Amino acid sequence: MAFPPLDFSKDRLKLLDQRKLPGAVEWLECRTAEEVVQAIRQMVVRGAPAIGVAAGYGLYLGIQNFEGRREDLLKLLEEKAALLKEARPTAVNLAWAVERVKKRVLSEKSRSADELKIAALQEAEKIREEDDRLCRAIGKHGARLFKAGETALTHCNAGGLATSGYGTALAVFYTLQEEGKAVSVYATETRPLLQGARLTAWELTQSRIPVTLVCESSVASLMRAGKIKRVVVGADRIAANGDTANKIGTYGIALLAKAHQIPFYIAAPSSTFDFSISSGKKIPIENRSSEEITEGFGKRTAPAGIRTENPAFDVTPHKLIAAFITEKGVLNPPYSKSLKVLRLSNDS
Ligand code: MRU
Repeated sequence: MAFPPLDFSKDRLKLLDQRKLPGAVEWLECRTAEEVVQAIRQMVVRGAPAIGVAAGYGLYLGIQNFEGRREDLLKLLEEKAALLKEARPTAVNLAWAVERVKKRVLSEKSRSADELKIAALQEAEKIREEDDRLCRAIGKHGARLFKAGETALTHCNAGGLATSGYGTALAVFYTLQEEGKAVSVYATETRPLLQGARLTAWELTQSRIPVTLVCESSVASLMRAGKIKRVVVGADRIAANGDTANKIGTYGIALLAKAHQIPFYIAAPSSTFDFSISSGKKIPIENRSSEEITEGFGKRTAPAGIRTENPAFDVTPHKLIAAFITEKGVLNPPYSKSLKVLRLSNDS
């Protein structure tokens, strides 16, 4: 099954409001780059590939009403690109998509302003279509790692809602189902915003894949009881050495998987690899508001004024990762070799 979280037509970006799921299915319309930035910040749309796709359209929306000289349009393009890239810091797909649309526009030499706008929209569409293809390829490669009937654990939501519709980590489960191989899933609820409970559990239930919702704190016991055979999660940014940023709590799960000798996989498209940074130490980690912890979903659960720390992501060292499942295949250690090959194929 697919769960596209966005739709673009008639110069409007419609976003499935993921803050409201699973209680209500509501769509929010964005007509400007600024509205797209707000929607990304407030997590109407979230998940690394999905915010990249949204930002690609956002850049088109930022220039679509412009009338005037080509040089002035290019200035506006730079301004809106900078704005969009700052919406959230950790997922590299955001800056990657914005840069890609910008590069396409800049490559259109001696074209009119109107033609440049069309080029921006075409590139944004291309990113969305490509993402769907890549996710399906990730699903196919990942499914080969599984034996029929296995139970896997996933954290946060790396499903259709986090991409253009088919997911990365959840793509593996969707593919297994399509291939007629049984799979069942433990989904962690994922504090504080509950992407696992609200989004992953919803997607998998809709898809009729058996899913059991658990608190992150149950993972160690479940692993010791032998109930989890594999872990598959997504990624927001992967450094050149394989260190991987993903939703806060991922690192702890990876350590537990290592302690229980359970393979821990990262499923991600090659656009999530950031070869410009050598290690995870250089990945910027987003800090979000205290209220997400102290009064999430409108209910106060901690004393007013309490000091909090709320990093949205953590970094899992590459040594804890059994393999990367990408659209180009499964990359095994040593990553100093396999990621180099990916880098070369990204560049070509
Ligand atoms: O804060 P979020 O909900 O945007 O975080 C999402 C994640 O951490 C996902 O696991 C990641 O973006 C991969 S999505 C295919």
